Amino acid sequence: MSESPIKFELLHIDKYTGARRGRITTRHGVIETPVFMPVGTNATVKGITNDQLNEIGTEIILSNAFHLYLRPGLEVLDYYKGLHNFMNWKKPILTDSGGFQVFSLPNKKFSEDGIIFKSPLDGLEIELTPEKSLNIQNVIGSDIAMVLDVCVNSLSSYETVKESVQKTFNWALRSREYHNNKNQALFGIVQGGLYEDLREISLKQITSLDFDGYAMGGLAVGEKYQDSEKVLKAFGNKFPENKPRYIMGIGSPTMMFLSVENGMDMFDCVLPTRMGRHGTALTMQGKLNLKSSKVRYDDQPIDDECDCYTCKNHSRGYIHHLFKRDEMLGKILLSIHNLRFNISLVEKMRNAIEIDEFKYFKEEFFRNSGYSLT
Ligand code: GUN
Ligand code: ZN
Repeated sequence: MSESPIKFELLHIDKYTGARRGRITTRHGVIETPVFMPVGTNATVKGITNDQLNEIGTEIILSNAFHLYLRPGLEVLDYYKGLHNFMNWKKPILTDSGGFQVFSLPNKKFSEDGIIFKSPLDGLEIELTPEKSLNIQNVIGSDIAMVLDVCVNSLSSYETVKESVQKTFNWALRSREYHNNKNQALFGIVQGGLYEDLREISLKQITSLDFDGYAMGGLAVGEKYQDSEKVLKAFGNKFPENKPRYIMGIGSPTMMFLSVENGMDMFDCVLPTRMGRHGTALTMQGKLNLKSSKVRYDDQPIDDECDCYTCKNHSRGYIHHLFKRDEMLGKILLSIHNLRFNISLVEKMRNAIEIDEFKYFKEEFFRNSGYSLT
């Protein structure tokens, strides 16, 4: 076993739930867990400067091999000596392998070694293989790379999910074998949809390989809350205890509580920024529509408990006006606030875990907020 490029310390496990408080140390700094990772698909967290990301407490951002491979492309990334330097982001970066993005394209087919799809740019065929995804992530220079996996809709048939589990394992083996960058951690991804036996098999297969961390994939892809709950309850705490656990693509308050409660450490989601761009604010009292004329004369901040730039400086009524005029500052201000909302919620979870009060904190959150527990 070679030395891991990251160090994971499990600091405390909540006495009454599976929630964990941990710390990941990387070459670009320390990440306290649980952690919410803002998504910067195109080498930018949409609308937010690096200074703003730092101010709201961002510890790590997520980017994507698929998008960066298409644009700006490897030559540019190589010229700038990687993504950190290109976007001048000093803290850790995690890159997704591109699997998820390719599988959401309409025309794709498996090849001998990987998957072939038509470039959304010019329609030309591109092949992505586990090795090629790692080459791309290597040029990007992310601190944590993900293996190429096969992510299918969680409502797919048993046969389809079974095949995806087999291929995901085969690609994980090849990735583990191929990966050769002592500065970059590599995480495996567990699939298996909503089928408990397939989840079990995938978990055994992927965790039999020595990855630096393990991810739960294939959730939040169209299934009901109750179904993802079943999977998380059954398998969250079966992931290796001494490595980071990452659940991919979730970030609603409800899903974050569920994930943390069941032993997950990391998550990412476009939800805060996407909602922000569409005029919806996340608050401790629930969602707030800033496009509604109800807030035209509302001189209060979005959330008077929030410590973000937006809430310290601007009223709901002002942001409403910006949205009415389609001014870009409205989207920026709401993205800042929503990201801060998620990050600060996770900070509060960490504090609660440290004093064994996660369960209490969760109950209180759902009692007082407008969010549904399910
Ligand atoms: N993002 C959200 N879900 C997934 C998944 O299952 N696999 C990958 N690679 N990325 C994801
Ligand atoms: Zn705010």
